[in-house]
Amino acid sequence: MTAFIQRHGRPPGLGVVLAGHSPASEVYVRNKLKTVAAAGCRAELFRLDATAALDDALALVRRLNGDDTIDGILVQSPLPDAMGAGAEQEVFDTIDPAKDVDGFHPFNVGLLVQKRARLVACTPLGCVELLEREGIALRGKHAVVIGRSDIVGKPMALLLLHRDTTVTMCHSRTVDLPAIARSADILVAAIGRPGFVTRDFVKPGATVIDVGINTLTDRAEVERLFAEGSRKRAVFGEKGSVLIGDVHPDVDEVAGALTPVPGGVGPLTIAMVLRNTVTAAEQRKDGGRAI
Ligand code: GUN
Repeated sequence: MTAFIQRHGRPPGLGVVLAGHSPASEVYVRNKLKTVAAAGCRAELFRLDATAALDDALALVRRLNGDDTIDGILVQSPLPDAMGAGAEQEVFDTIDPAKDVDGFHPFNVGLLVQKRARLVACTPLGCVELLEREGIALRGKHAVVIGRSDIVGKPMALLLLHRDTTVTMCHSRTVDLPAIARSADILVAAIGRPGFVTRDFVKPGATVIDVGINTLTDRAEVERLFAEGSRKRAVFGEKGSVLIGDVHPDVDEVAGALTPVPGGVGPLTIAMVLRNTVTAAEQRKDGGRAI
């Protein structure tokens, strides 16, 4: 960071746009801003009211596109329903691709497809970083990704493909999902369904990455999912809510490795926001070379 500041006379700058007051988005955005600022970047929050029009969001993004001290722009998803269907895509399409630290702009998605990415979606990037740092072999292995979202499932599958895994993508219409999942050496769950992946989905010894972060507030659901005396029930008893991933914690008894929720993929996503901010800043100063 010091080297960047010495060279360019200012730190890398990130502008985060938050529309509305979703409690989950408030937490995510606060953590992103805190981490990026703690590393020495400038991190600024731009708020829009829950009733703001799509045009207000587009005008703000255009202003940030034109601000030379802002290297990265992140518009927190989801946008308020009042902005209308398709608003999110229109906003992402308007972000300058060179400042697109989420990697959601179709130009950056296209570069990722062609294996010459500049900026890649933070959550899948964090998952790959985790696999590589843990020394988990990928070449020739079978990776199964459950979930086909633009934010996680699709870029995750591409990143794994580019590391020579054989990738299967599963989704809500997949027939006999547990059997396909059971053939995975690396299983990634990104569907937003609490505790959906159970032991019968997992080959013994497989590496399981849990991308889901679901807040349970319903006692009956907590009691259905977790046995008496379990840690999750204890947390629920204390707080009245409990965070659970898409993978049931019992999977830990079968898997070779399992990312925890909370404290697994979440912090890595935030670390990748920081990395992408610095990457965007350097690439912009460098004339936008591919990484
Ligand atoms: N909402 C949930 N995950 C993400 C993310 O990675 N980026 C943005 N902008 N919004 C999100």
